[in-house]
This record gives sequence, C-alpha cells and structure tokens, in this order.
Amino acid sequence: MKVTFKIWRQENHDSTGALRTYESEGLSEEMSFLEALDHLNETLVLKNEKVIAFDHDCREGICGQCGVFINGRAHGPHDNTTTCQLHMRSFKEGDTIVVEPFRAGAFPVVKDLVVDRSAFDRIIEQGGYITAKTGTAAEANAILVPKDISDSAMDAAACIGCGACVATCKNASAALFTSAKINHLNKLPQGKPEEHRRTLDMIFQMDLEQFGSCTFTGACEVECPAEISISNIAEMNARYFKAKLLS
Ligand code: FES
Repeated sequence: MKVTFKIWRQENHDSTGALRTYESEGLSEEMSFLEALDHLNETLVLKNEKVIAFDHDCREGICGQCGVFINGRAHGPHDNTTTCQLHMRSFKEGDTIVVEPFRAGAFPVVKDLVVDRSAFDRIIEQGGYITAKTGTAAEANAILVPKDISDSAMDAAACIGCGACVATCKNASAALFTSAKINHLNKLPQGKPEEHRRTLDMIFQMDLEQFGSCTFTGACEVECPAEISISNIAEMNARYFKAKLLS
C-alpha cells in the first residue's frame, strides 16, 4: 500500500511550523495508523533525516496520548475512536493523508505532532480525587449505590483525557472533559462531601487555562473515544449554579 502523508513539522513551540510531504510505500492495510508513522520514521532514519515526533503510550485506546488531527478530524475519519485504534484499511491506495497536531491555545505544540496537554492535569489537581481516607477496600455492599447512578458515574469515568473534545470544538472548550471528571465523582457517595468545592475549583481552573466556552454544538461527543455524552455538560452547569448559590 502506498499513500502520501502531509505531516505538520515544527521544531518547537516558538518556531514556525509547516506541512511537509512524504511518500510512504510498503504499508499494509492491517497496520495501525501509528505503525504507519513508525514505518515512515524508519525510512527517515535510513535517510538520516529527523524523525516525526508523535505521542503514544498504550496503543490500546486507553491512555489518551495519541491524539492527532487526520484529514481535518480528531483521531481520523471514524467517530468515537483513538488514533492508535485507527487502521490503514480506513484509507485507500494513493490517498493523501494530512496529519496535524491538536489545535488549541491551551494545548501548545511541543514538537511536530506533540502538544502539551498539562492544562488537563491542572484541572484534575483542583478536585479530580476524594480526600476521605478510605483505608482498605470496603465491602462492596457497605455503601449502596443505585444502579442507574453507578452506571452513569462509570460512563463519565470512562474519559481517557485525550483532548479530542477540545481539538474538535470550534471554541476549544474543555467542558466535556471537565464535566466528566466532575460528574463521575460528584454522583457517588464517596465524592459528595467535596462536591461543591470540586465543581467550583475545577471550573475555575478550566477557565484559567483559557479554554473556550461551550456552545453545545455536540462535536465533542462525536469525536470522544469514550463516547462521553454532552448531557454531562448540562449536568455540570446545573451543579455549578447550585454550588454558587450555596457558596
Ligand atoms: S496510545 Fe493510548 S490511547 Fe492511543
């Protein structure tokens, strides 16, 4: 399989980037997209050229490290997937594939396709945890949680923090990420004692990081690999007003 890659190359945050064209041959349809980039990098090494920097870790759709824009979409042509779970069979012989880093003011480019998503870490630092000393694991039936509540908390907890929601949003909003992280703890008894402080602090940090506002276009929900629902954002907003009233 042969394709043409147009890949964003940028030496560092302060330098100017540009798309560079690479013809890549000898690919297989069974290769993952990241393996196709590995293959391209191997040919660059043989030519004594600088390899293309891109992020990855698990390559199993779990860690959220591998986000790039492919042909104008976060994580490529399919809904609700990660770049590492995308395969070359999703493209045709002779295709031109444009690969760019996630674009958002809060995600500065580090090098080539790698962006700094530590803004997400700083939001988590403001409340993405519980401070109760839980000791050893409690007996599962000691704290009863209704099934619908535990299910929706687990759905929100599925967020892998990849940043596709931000990159695909025309406002570069982090509302889907932040709402998932707030809701999955606030819904459960263990997260209740700090729910108002958590909601206020995490939203304050989200705004401080200069993510945009949510205007409910729903684009984030389409690209989210974990299929986090935008109903989480409405729930976060309701929690925010309640927390404000009580603060
Ligand atoms: S490399 Fe971990 S989600 Fe893609």
